[in-house]
Amino acid sequence: MTLEIDYSNAMLDNVGEMGLKLSDIKDLQGRAGEIHQDLTRRRKEGKLPFYDLPYQNITRIMKVSCKCEDQPIENVVVLGIGGSALGARALAKALLPPYHEVGDAAYRAGLPRLFVADNVDPDYFTGLLSVLDLGRTRFVAISKSGGTAEVMSQFLIARDKLIRKFGEEGYRQRMVAITDQEKGYLRDIVQRDGLESYPVPPGVGGRFSVMTPVGLIPAYMAGVDVVALLRGAANMDKACSEPDILANPAYLLAAILYLADVKLKRNVLVMMPYASSLLEFAEWFQQLWAESLGKAIDLNGGPANVCATPVRSLGATDQHSQLQLYMEGPRDKLIVFIKPNEFIERGTIPEAFGDVEGVGYLGGHSLSELIRAEAKASETALAKAGRPNIRLDVTRVDGDNLGRLMYMCEVATLFAGGLYNVNPLDQPGVEMGKKFAFSMMGRKGYDAEKTEVEEWDKKKVKYIL
Ligand code: PA5
Repeated sequence: MTLEIDYSNAMLDNVGEMGLKLSDIKDLQGRAGEIHQDLTRRRKEGKLPFYDLPYQNITRIMKVSCKCEDQPIENVVVLGIGGSALGARALAKALLPPYHEVGDAAYRAGLPRLFVADNVDPDYFTGLLSVLDLGRTRFVAISKSGGTAEVMSQFLIARDKLIRKFGEEGYRQRMVAITDQEKGYLRDIVQRDGLESYPVPPGVGGRFSVMTPVGLIPAYMAGVDVVALLRGAANMDKACSEPDILANPAYLLAAILYLADVKLKRNVLVMMPYASSLLEFAEWFQQLWAESLGKAIDLNGGPANVCATPVRSLGATDQHSQLQLYMEGPRDKLIVFIKPNEFIERGTIPEAFGDVEGVGYLGGHSLSELIRAEAKASETALAKAGRPNIRLDVTRVDGDNLGRLMYMCEVATLFAGGLYNVNPLDQPGVEMGKKFAFSMMGRKGYDAEKTEVEEWDKKKVKYIL
């Protein structure tokens, strides 16, 4: 077993009338066949290039410099947001040793720490730059469009700091850019400043770009085994070539998530790994599912307003925070557990207080036994309460399995786009907000938006303390 989808707790037999029938899934086979044909055709035509990323040549990626001024670097800082940040963070958290970023150089085997900005919170961003030894830091500025306000602001601040401290050449040594091969403001800046750069392959959107330089460069610099990641993805690709919905893991996953939403009215999708290393994976999935499928208009131009809201949760932590709600709150959730079976574990819980009934029983067991027992306990309790859940079992969290998981989720998202009849590759809903933000920051050509924001502001009803 490397990856298993156990969906028994989403089925009628285990959760009663709140569950699905096998025939519900089988009934989707007709549509699944059409979606499969459409995806296969578009892949062959080169219109879905993310599918073939597992087979890319990564020789150049693996030559990215982890030095500046002939000194090994200590830090890599990703300047990016959304799809240009979440993949690298998920890879690093899952595949580097725990607390890689706080361990000393020996703990990190001399590899750099990885920090992913993913925001423009002024205190945190400037705080990050002031806490790092910039002389031993390389920045990776990532923007497919090359014009995202948050990323370009991060870039301008880092660039200015580097030029002031180390001069033009020192800046060039410490900045790498990943952007569209030909167009966009960041591409122009790469030419003007003479920066080392890598392309975001054409046709691969931010949230599908984890296996391009966007995710691979920062992860590789910090020591992630990117070869294993791509190998796992290639293995999953083979499993995903099946048109049969019950035999194709990505189609099966998508079908269950889709049916839970539209048939069972479970419009909150909780991704709950029982491994701290996978929390950022859940965050990555959350963006992938939400931004791809939450759409107002369907492929025929009609109204859609679809997609369950994905949220992330962490086992066992959130048993003490969210589980009460999942058990007894609104019947609007499908819980997707992810359960690794092996951990890199050292030792067992010490045997002590054998005479203290509520504590002594723990001695001699391992923490991995405990966390797996907690996962099993939660899924069983939820099922018994008629709360559907499914479980993705992975042997362990490693590059190969993460590659499988990520690739499966990407294909599942595309396939779910077909089921929901929406375009999973665009994000029109974020455009209006971007334009309003541009207008408030004084960008030329956005006067109408500025007026609109000002007019809207007059309508506010406020409570002021
Ligand atoms: O997935 C997406 O397309 C988005 O989340 C983008 O990655 C995000 O908006 C950043 O865009 P860009 O890489 O163009 O700066």
